[in-house]
Amino acid sequence: MDLFEYQARDLFEAHGVPVLAGIVADTPEDVKAAAEKLGGVTVVKAQVKTGGRGKAGGVKVAKNPDEAFEAAKAILGLDIKGHVVERVMVAAGANIEEEYYFSVLLDRANRNYLAMCSKEGGMEIEQLAEERPEALARIAVDPIVGIDEAKAEEIARAAGFDDEKIAKLVPVFVKLFEVYRDEDATLVEVNPLVQTAEGDIIALDGKVTLDDNAEFRHEHHAALQAAAGNLDPLEEKAKENDLNYVKLDGQVGIIGNGAGLVMSTLDVVAGAGEKHGGVKPANFLDIGGGASAEVMAAGLDVILGDSQVKSVFVNVFGGITACDAVANGIVGALKTLGDAASKPLVVRLDGNNVEEGRQILADFNHPLVTVVPTMDEAADKAAELANA
Ligand SMILES: Nc1ncnc2c1ncn2[C@@H]1O[C@H](COP(=O)(O)OP(=O)(O)OP(=O)(O)O)[C@@H](O)[C@H]1O
Ligand SMILES: [Mg+2]
Repeated sequence: MDLFEYQARDLFEAHGVPVLAGIVADTPEDVKAAAEKLGGVTVVKAQVKTGGRGKAGGVKVAKNPDEAFEAAKAILGLDIKGHVVERVMVAAGANIEEEYYFSVLLDRANRNYLAMCSKEGGMEIEQLAEERPEALARIAVDPIVGIDEAKAEEIARAAGFDDEKIAKLVPVFVKLFEVYRDEDATLVEVNPLVQTAEGDIIALDGKVTLDDNAEFRHEHHAALQAAAGNLDPLEEKAKENDLNYVKLDGQVGIIGNGAGLVMSTLDVVAGAGEKHGGVKPANFLDIGGGASAEVMAAGLDVILGDSQVKSVFVNVFGGITACDAVANGIVGALKTLGDAASKPLVVRLDGNNVEEGRQILADFNHPLVTVVPTMDEAADKAAELANA
């Protein structure tokens, strides 16, 4: 589960990581009141689970409560990469002198933890990693030892900080690791971690991902989930239907059966998209083994509810649930959805009872459905339709 920035801020505060005061609000009036309460310069920040809020106009500095009111009017309702802003955090303004980057995350490939740190925070870290990888220190962290003072010092030194800065950063890195460890997180990222003109180190932004498998040992995580759930209707809907759904930022909706097939479908669509205006997969959705009409309808319903989706690729390999059952599922889903099914569907069926399955779709003869024989051709067609 990804947390909102304000939830990450609260966790940081609970673990002693230095943060600034922040008040969550969902109307311009409440934002103004929050700015009055905080006093001085404030920053109104969109609370959405996607990066690049600043660039999208979702972070605005306000010199006084009236400006905060105006900033809230501009930010609330803003669509940031398909996430509509329903809430903002009014944060006390920091007197920033320098912006750094720090993160600790689960490094699956190396079966380890990884800490990353840079003196050049604030900008998109992916861009920094690509353009000037030497500016981003990467230090392996032994999960048994974690980030103790010695490790924190090693990280800060690798990022090129001087002794005076290192002394200030070490306790903050240690605390951030405590958040990571004690909350069972798989990611704790601070961008920017700033030094203020007063010389303080403060976490000004926070991105935290909690390990859902550990939810049972953290009573308060359920509350975080509930607060978070309210705000992402698509993921909420998918969860209610026991669908394995992850929203992405592209235009081609994806449904498949089996996580492996869906993962490779994402790759093939991303590849095909390069020839069609750079369109990308809009989501991961695995409907699992029993592709019944109900499950198919629920899956299509979730995907069609994503305003960014321009076409849908249904990629099914018939196994225990044969292609004719899946085809009947698609037919049933389209009947159930009626006019709600409004975007072109590219279907690729293969495997058990494939001929029967294709015949069912041919007989149904729905104007939005195109049946394509292979995965590559289907990906190409879906990308083409998304770019039309
Ligand atoms: N409380 C604050 N006081 C002063 N400046 C701030 C404050 N919060 C953010 N900023 C400034 O705004 C910039 C963007 O803020 P932030 O990092 O929170 O959003 P973002 O990076 O655009 O979003 P995301 O991290 O989701 O990509 C920061 O780099 C910082 O310069
Ligand atoms: Mg940031």
